[in-house]
Amino acid sequence: MFNHIEELPDVTGPGGGGQCFKRVGREAADGFAVLPGDQLDKMRGKQWDVLASLIQTRQVQRHDIQAIVEILAKLRLSHCRIKIAMVCRKQSHINRLRLARALMQSPVRLVLLDEPFRGLAIDPAQYVGIHARVSEFVARGRQFPVKVNFSSARSAPSLYPGEALKNAATRALRKYPDLLVRPAPPNGNAEFRNVLARRAMVSGMVLAPEELVVTQGCIEALNLALRAVTQPGDIVAVESPTFYGLLQVLEALGLRALEIPTSPQTGISLEALELAAQTHERITAIVVVPTLQNPLGSIMPDAHKARLVDFCARSEIALIEDDTYSALVNDDAPVRALKSWDRNGNVIHCASLHKILAPGMRLGWMNAGRWHSRVEMLKYVQSRNNEELAQLVAAEFMGSSAYDRHLRQLRSNWNSTSSADDSSL
Ligand SMILES: Cc1ncc(COP(=O)(O)O)c(C=O)c1O
Repeated sequence: MFNHIEELPDVTGPGGGGQCFKRVGREAADGFAVLPGDQLDKMRGKQWDVLASLIQTRQVQRHDIQAIVEILAKLRLSHCRIKIAMVCRKQSHINRLRLARALMQSPVRLVLLDEPFRGLAIDPAQYVGIHARVSEFVARGRQFPVKVNFSSARSAPSLYPGEALKNAATRALRKYPDLLVRPAPPNGNAEFRNVLARRAMVSGMVLAPEELVVTQGCIEALNLALRAVTQPGDIVAVESPTFYGLLQVLEALGLRALEIPTSPQTGISLEALELAAQTHERITAIVVVPTLQNPLGSIMPDAHKARLVDFCARSEIALIEDDTYSALVNDDAPVRALKSWDRNGNVIHCASLHKILAPGMRLGWMNAGRWHSRVEMLKYVQSRNNEELAQLVAAEFMGSSAYDRHLRQLRSNWNSTSSADDSSL
């Protein structure tokens, strides 16, 4: 059944342990790939985990060799590269680049290495594992950096005010020598929350600093908001298309997503939402990105925003506002947040500094409206208080006009890079 078995070039790095790749099976004329018995024997034991992680998405039983062979056949290998990384002990010096190149050359390959090579085997399970296609896409994006990476939305480190933030950190540590050893305050540092509340006024929100909870990015705020207002099994309306991370959160919390069509111009369709609310089982919550929606970039007109807030309040649907990007709007007139129309605490506002100030600090924040106490409790249960140094640094920077200058600079950079990305696409 084999066309032939041949040895591949040695792709280990300097001082490598000789041949470590073997082509042990090859496409037959009918598209079948067959793995020889002695190699399959070698693949038993813990090494199966590696194979299992690769074929997990194809629904193959771990130990079912027949099924694996059938899947390989079904996949018509000339069109689909199956890469099986087998790892054993001893060799940690594999040259990544050459290894990746060698893997790309043939449709079917068993790679026999002597050392677990964790950097290579893609393990979608790391990224939740329940949303297999999305998880695999993100894992690949991280593994093989590309010029324009759509799996994460942030700028290059050079576009953030690294030097100014570093100096602010030094000052904070000098001012509070015990900063790193004293306990961090619940809900967030007071100075930071003051600045956040003051800056939120630009988007029309009047928020008391004590009503804000500092989080690990917007993603933690979304998790807390959803946990505060739903029970597993509840229906949550989402924009379609939406940010993949939200779908992962919904799945992880055992919630059901109801897709609502969303326009690149005006955002979520209110007509479709109203119809869905009449015809579906009860919708418990809705999550929207009203400004610079990901991935569409839409900005909801003010009239839509007001109508959405009003509709959700009347229908007793909790409205979760994801405000990750509004600071990037290139407009003299600042955009209003949904929260600015909220009169009864039905809107949970979730925001982030991750894209606009410092990805490394992972700072986010939220105002949970009438669910504030519940969110406080959930935050305590889930992750306790955020560390304080990053908050003091952000408070100092955001409290000065340097923050406004930085935002102007960042917006103009985004404008130029997004035109370049459009043309490269
Ligand atoms: C719409 C949207 N919400 C939330 C997030 C996550 O934000 P953070 O990195 O602050 O957790 C992202 C990140 O890409 C996003 O695009």
